[in-house]
Amino acid sequence: MFNFSRFKKTSYEIDKNNLPVHIAIIMDGNGRWAKRRGLSRSLGHREGSNVLKRITEFCSDLGIKYLTVYAFSTENWKRPKSEVDKLMDLLLEYLKKAEDELSGKNIRIKVIGDKKGLPLEIQKQVERVEKFSRENTGLCLNMALNYGSRNEIINAAKLLIKDCNDGKIKVDDIDENLFSDRLYTTGIPDPDLLIRPSGEQRISNFLLWQAAYTEFWYSNVMWPDFKKEHLLEAIRDYQNRNRRFGGI
Ligand code: FPP
Repeated sequence: MFNFSRFKKTSYEIDKNNLPVHIAIIMDGNGRWAKRRGLSRSLGHREGSNVLKRITEFCSDLGIKYLTVYAFSTENWKRPKSEVDKLMDLLLEYLKKAEDELSGKNIRIKVIGDKKGLPLEIQKQVERVEKFSRENTGLCLNMALNYGSRNEIINAAKLLIKDCNDGKIKVDDIDENLFSDRLYTTGIPDPDLLIRPSGEQRISNFLLWQAAYTEFWYSNVMWPDFKKEHLLEAIRDYQNRNRRFGGI
């Protein structure tokens, strides 16, 4: 058992031998957090990105292997242009600083989503960040950018059809593995635990295929207020669940 003495008040004891391999987070509540403080929504996103940095490092310290975060969905383009522009600026800033911020931390960054639909400058930074962190063997941080799960599934279906037409595979060969291999998350195990702060209890087009047997954990705390203690609470709760994967 792993005891975090500085969190003693509420005893956030977790079992280091039963950690979720893959944690996914919908970083929700930035806008409401900002509004309640009379701040702009963009400031909420900025605070959200600071929390992301802290939680990424904490997951890495804990020994979590994969952390997937929903940073920008295919539906988020519907927001006012000023908010979208500010989010893109924030992403660009995050990506530009990533090499320095992650230096010596052995963290790998991977972007999942429709990269070609992102602004060119962001695409370039994504390529750079993925390249410099490629050999890192610790935590893999998957950033879902311009990500939509239905879009991902349609894309996988198209790739399968193309492979069938090109004679690379036969229709009858198509199974869950061949399908998974054509998702943005290829090579990444399915999430064990999905965390959604801010009180909302929906999946919002995130990892629909991959979350077939994922354990959900919801909290009323807004993402900018999300602390290490909340993560430990989610993990402890996860460790008390009985995962049956359809069995008994
Ligand atoms: C949802 O909160 C959050 C987003 C749409 C964007 C998430 C982005 C970040 C946490 C920061 C950017 C990330 C990086 C990597 C720089 P919301 O705006 O829908 O909040 P609301 O539901 O309270 O309005």
